[in-house]
Amino acid sequence: MTESPVRHEITDRALRVTIDNPPVNVIGQAVRAGLLAACDAAETALAAGRIDRVVLTGAGRAFVAGADAREFDGPALEPHLPEVLDRLARLPAVAAVNGAALGGGFELALACRARIAGPKALVGLPEVTLGVVPGAGGTQRLPRLVGLDTAIPLIAQGRTVKAAEARELGLVDALADDPVAAALALGSELLDRPALDDWPAPAPAPDAAAAARRHAETRQRGQIAPLTAIELMEAAAELPLAEGLSRERAAFLELRQGPQARALRHIFFAERGAGAGPELKQLEPQAIDTALVAGGGTMGAAIAYALGQAGIRVTLLEQDAAAAERARANIATFFDGAVSRGKLSQETAEAMRAERFDVRHGDGPLPPVDIAIEAVFEDLDVKRAVFARLDAALPETTILATNTSYLDPDAVSEGVRAPERFLGLHFFAPAHVMKLVEVVRAAHTSPQTLATAFALTRRLGKIAVEAGICDGFIGNRILTRYRQAGDVLLIEGALPWEIDRAVEAFGMAMGPYAVQDLSGLDIAYANRRRKTPKDDPDHRYVPIADRMVEELQRLGRKTDAGWYDYRDGKPTPSPAVETLIEAASAEAGLPRRSFAPDEIARRMMLAIIAEAFEILEEGIARRSADIDLVLVHGYGFPRWRGGPMKLAEEWGLAAVMADLAALAKEDPKSWRVPPLLRSMVEAGDAPAGGAERE
Ligand code: NAI
Repeated sequence: MTESPVRHEITDRALRVTIDNPPVNVIGQAVRAGLLAACDAAETALAAGRIDRVVLTGAGRAFVAGADAREFDGPALEPHLPEVLDRLARLPAVAAVNGAALGGGFELALACRARIAGPKALVGLPEVTLGVVPGAGGTQRLPRLVGLDTAIPLIAQGRTVKAAEARELGLVDALADDPVAAALALGSELLDRPALDDWPAPAPAPDAAAAARRHAETRQRGQIAPLTAIELMEAAAELPLAEGLSRERAAFLELRQGPQARALRHIFFAERGAGAGPELKQLEPQAIDTALVAGGGTMGAAIAYALGQAGIRVTLLEQDAAAAERARANIATFFDGAVSRGKLSQETAEAMRAERFDVRHGDGPLPPVDIAIEAVFEDLDVKRAVFARLDAALPETTILATNTSYLDPDAVSEGVRAPERFLGLHFFAPAHVMKLVEVVRAAHTSPQTLATAFALTRRLGKIAVEAGICDGFIGNRILTRYRQAGDVLLIEGALPWEIDRAVEAFGMAMGPYAVQDLSGLDIAYANRRRKTPKDDPDHRYVPIADRMVEELQRLGRKTDAGWYDYRDGKPTPSPAVETLIEAASAEAGLPRRSFAPDEIARRMMLAIIAEAFEILEEGIARRSADIDLVLVHGYGFPRWRGGPMKLAEEWGLAAVMADLAALAKEDPKSWRVPPLLRSMVEAGDAPAGGAERE
């Protein structure tokens, strides 16, 4: 038998129980069994008068970071956590919360008579973020401890709080630098009080419940778990504890097998598996202490700021004095934002700005930095000229990166001395906020360079995904295909607002036409001009988007007219756009038909899925889960649907293939069945969510 992850020993008249299940002490079957054994030992020692308390803590940096979500895919294994907590609740136990006590870990703490938090404590019940509700008493015991007004928003939003706030809210009883020592010294008034199970039911809090429902409808749109959690907490005020607990357990077991929880777990694990692949992990990344960012506009200033926040000294290079001044102002705006949100004090912000940022222009010498990231205009010649200068001025070890969205990084890097040190680092706007980065492997990029880029993005707190070279890499290539599918729907009979509403109801953060109005129709127009010839015989050309720009000069919000009309910033359907679309259909000789929202959403998702399979097959993405991460973190794809590859798995690969085949039959210039999808269906292959291609 392997050693139990739960140790216990008697010292100072206490049974000290330590959960030691690295890295973060999650509760799996062995931990539950170990805790029961510890309860046995405690009962014996109490009966013999050898101890007067049980002190529970976690080894290493966490208390208990949650339940082991890997167990969620199978049937619940005995012993179940509620049983364990039931036993624990009868003992004079104190939780010494040394680190993260989340989900099942916090429920464990709630089963104790008292909770003492160390400086690193982080507590909460974030189950809804994994599509479930607390399953071992959280929705019933936390309201008894702190009242429904506090418990409802915490649990329904899955918010976690640090030590000081936890104390303020009453989630813990005391703070201590050494929570174990404090638990050993804890006086009897806390130790001898009744367990939470014997506390009175909380008073109803209809206002808090209504506010949480409103929050769920807007910020957690489409998700079941937050609403279920609110209902369960309301029941805590009405029902005897035992009944509340059994309802909660039933809801937990049902939700954890459902599609939303499966999708959220998939993304959770995809995030943890993101970044450098196994071969790269073997390599020692180069140290990055200094960076140069070329271009201080929308992207460059935000990238520079993100680097500076991670402790890297940044030289920002602009083309002239006026642009340098704008770049300085951009960076100052980010610092002001951090100060006004209370993230930084005014003094720290000023000191950091002075120490870490050096904005310059002109042809002077450049400091010998470890990495240079280019974010100048999206123009091949401009970018090449910038790299020629950087290459000549910087040491031969400096990594060179381009933030280009659509240009070919191999063309951008032509002529640089050491192309093995060159790669793409495609950030997303706003770059100091958005977590996604596509790490683009160019023709000669060395593994060492990639490993260094992944180490850097990790340090910036980003989620990095490796991408190969193609037009638009992973994300923008899929976006282009998605928009084309929308335009085909337009000419066949749908209207932009119908498409937007349908995909938003499906869960997308924003419809594609509303997004284009925000980013500007001219940007997408310029891209189309650059790559897709109108007369490409293999491609179905829909003229509507081009005419919006060429004939109507409707460029989006910046002209108060795009796919929508804007009055006081509010979008309304545009009759002029409707007329233009109808004229295009008539001209093409197409009878317009109506599309139900479900059909629209399905077709739009099929476009994303089809392109995702092509991308995987071409090796542009390394893992299918990486494509899911790109869509969820860069394009407003609902996290609770798990990304397009997970969605394809949920819909069934055979059904997806049948739908694509039907569309391809009708419109072969827009659709085809991706060969990889076909071969996976024919082989009865592993679901797409787990497909790996190296
Ligand atoms: P921007 O127009 O806001 O900024 C470009 C900056 O580069 C300007 O401040 C300009 O003065 C400066 N610049 C131009 N030539 C220069 C030179 N020779 N030396 C130094 N500085 C020079 O453009 P934005 O939006 O920041 O885009 C920059 C790059 O990032 C482009 O390649 C773009 O495709 C890419 N990108 C843009 C995203 C976005 O959402 N805006 C997202 C991801 C990538």
